[in-house]
Amino acid sequence: MKVLNFGSLNLDYVYSVEHIAEPGETLSSRGREVFCGGKGLNQSIALAKAGAEVYHAGLIGPEGGMLIEAAKDAGVDVRYTKTISTPTGHAIIQVNSEGQNSIILFGGANQCVTEDFADRVLEGFQPGDLILLQNEISCLDYIIDKAHSAGITVILNPSPFNDALEGCDMNKVDMFFVNEIEGFQLTGEKEPERILDAFASKFPKAEVILTLGGDGAWYGGPSGERIYQECTKVEVVDTTAAGDTFTGYFISSMLKGISRKEGLAIASKAAAVAVSRKGAAPSIPVWNEIME
Ligand code: RIB
Repeated sequence: MKVLNFGSLNLDYVYSVEHIAEPGETLSSRGREVFCGGKGLNQSIALAKAGAEVYHAGLIGPEGGMLIEAAKDAGVDVRYTKTISTPTGHAIIQVNSEGQNSIILFGGANQCVTEDFADRVLEGFQPGDLILLQNEISCLDYIIDKAHSAGITVILNPSPFNDALEGCDMNKVDMFFVNEIEGFQLTGEKEPERILDAFASKFPKAEVILTLGGDGAWYGGPSGERIYQECTKVEVVDTTAAGDTFTGYFISSMLKGISRKEGLAIASKAAAVAVSRKGAAPSIPVWNEIME
């Protein structure tokens, strides 16, 4: 079974600020750093660092070479990541004194994914393989349809939540990773267990992992199984990519045959390590750090 992550690659421009800028406010930053990021790339790196064999498909511009290098360094197969003339996607990220962030995305090359490119990538995958998707590339609806009809297991992290998701057939998704905001946007419910109930009734065959930041995470299974995992407490430096780390580690644990309960515990530890470090992709730990 092969794992394909078809997703974004971003250059993250991270500004350290006292507080997140208010509307109309001009704010001086304490400094700026540039990190590799993008929900897609972060999740591929997390999968690879957690020991999974993963292929990353996506598009970058001419100035995005460091993103390919970061993926390769982590052990990600980048044969389906191509360079085009459109600028690389980027994110402008404010990180405040508490490590909380605010992110503005510029899609760039990520939004140049075409049906033709998706077809060429998917030709390399078979029934029983697994595809992981987020909502930072174009043609998401097409990729979900095509992967599902090819018998590929579809895992979706519908983030960021926006109108592009309306065109996606969520009934074709086998596993969801959502935070409480995405959970609310998909179900209209705010309470974690009610969100899981709503998922169970809307998508009865799907598994759902609901992450709640400092309040832990829930797993909801298709047969009504519920598992809660507390958050691992650490000093927060930068929360960027915590969810991506969680996603990559949970999936990698699942691929190793680890139970969903243990997978939640491992993913929670990995996310805690990520929030204790700066940046997106560079903050993701390797498997041995978590096992120790
Ligand atoms: O999930 C964190 C990521 O969101 C950042 O790396 C940024 O690029 C945005 O995609």
